[in-house]
Amino acid sequence: MKPAASTVYLVLQVCFLALISSRNIYGKQVWPIPYRRFDRRPDPDPYCQALYTFCPTGDPDGRIPYMRDSDVISVFRLQTPVWEFKYGDILGKFHIMHDAIGFASSETGRNYTMEWYELFQLGNCTFPHEREDTAAPFWCNQGAACFFEGIDDLHWQQNGTLEKVGEISGEQFNDLARWVQEDNKTGIYYETWTVRSDPGANSTTWFESYDCSQFVHRTYRKMAELGAKLSSKTQTNYTKIYLYSGEPTYLGDDNTIFGQSSMKTLATDIKNFYHSFQPHQSMIQFMLSLMEVYKKVVLEKTFYLYYNFEYWHLPMKAPYIQITYEEVPLPH
Ligand SMILES: *[C@@H]1O[C@H](CO)[C@@H](O)[C@H](O)[C@H]1NC(C)=O
Ligand SMILES: *[C@@H]1O[C@H](CO)[C@@H](O)[C@H](O)[C@H]1NC(C)=O
Ligand SMILES: *[C@@H]1O[C@H](CO)[C@@H](O)[C@H](O)[C@H]1NC(C)=O
Ligand SMILES: *[C@@H]1O[C@H](CO)[C@@H](O)[C@H](O)[C@H]1NC(C)=O
Ligand SMILES: *[C@@H]1O[C@H](CO)[C@@H](O)[C@H](O)[C@H]1NC(C)=O
Ligand SMILES: *[C@@H]1O[C@H](CO)[C@@H](O)[C@H](O)[C@H]1NC(C)=O
Repeated sequence: MKPAASTVYLVLQVCFLALISSRNIYGKQVWPIPYRRFDRRPDPDPYCQALYTFCPTGDPDGRIPYMRDSDVISVFRLQTPVWEFKYGDILGKFHIMHDAIGFASSETGRNYTMEWYELFQLGNCTFPHEREDTAAPFWCNQGAACFFEGIDDLHWQQNGTLEKVGEISGEQFNDLARWVQEDNKTGIYYETWTVRSDPGANSTTWFESYDCSQFVHRTYRKMAELGAKLSSKTQTNYTKIYLYSGEPTYLGDDNTIFGQSSMKTLATDIKNFYHSFQPHQSMIQFMLSLMEVYKKVVLEKTFYLYYNFEYWHLPMKAPYIQITYEEVPLPH
């Protein structure tokens, strides 16, 4: 039976509202807040200047070589420490790892590395700049996929991982390549933090990070969807940087917060919050900033999260911040 036109309209409207407000049809907030996708990737603002060129040996237009359908492509799990550091027992031992995926064609003998990372490094994706000429904190937080020829075996093997985890056909590889390019166009910014209610197994995740390891997980899931069988002989662990908080509240975007005098108090609070953590160049300075964030949130129990180019208030609670290195199994 066909429903009356007005019912269809109502349902469509309700679904549409649910979609744009990330609330379900009963008006309850849906968690985690979905990471926003864009129609296309904008050019970064000229203010953002990379210290290290992004993807120096990749194709400037992000082209990925076409493989013959009949080719057999080996898939490698690649991981290397960015930084390891022991700082008392406050945050435990840090395992800050970088993840990537390697491919090797058996027909041509050529191999390739694929990774997703910050255009302007981690500090710039985690903390904004204060600028004289802009009212709002200014973020250089784009991240993107980089595909280039070659696998630097030594780089991944020393203290890291280089392990073959499966094989795909050339046809599956070509499908994957199209998906990566689309994913790269629509997912444009890096998010350092995963925010959840507590460290327990049944905690609620309020926000998911969007970083190199999330890209690797998405890519493995896509491969599994395309029919690939992946398996590893060792535990597959990844770095997560957690914030712990009660239910977050939505604050607004740059225009609503920093463009209206009625929001002046909130605008000042957010600026003061980020004032202490200007983006840094080095990993050591970044880790020192994380210590500062930790001290500040323990004291003030407040964090202003920037997610989807909007601000949220997080009522922070113990254990506040954690860096973990935990298992995420390969998909089946
Ligand atoms: C972070 O952004 C600033 C501002 O554009 C830039 O000067 C700096 O080089 C960036 N840092 C890195 C490590 O790319
Ligand atoms: C992803 O986007 C960046 C930034 O535009 C670009 O440099 C890179 O080549 C793209 N990578 C792929 C695999 O499409
Ligand atoms: C990738 O190719 C280079 C050059 O042929 C070779 O030295 C290296 O062992 C290959 N790595 C993998 C994982 O296939
Ligand atoms: C591997 O670890 C050793 C000892 O911790 C260190 O001396 C060496 O520089 C590391 N190698 C790489 C490539 O990071
Ligand atoms: C998580 O939830 C499940 C199902 O509700 C329950 O069986 C389990 O004991 C809970 N685990 C913890 C650590 O609370
Ligand atoms: C890997 O993750 C598992 C479970 O999340 C954990 O028990 C294990 O200690 C981790 N391994 C390392 C080397 O941290």
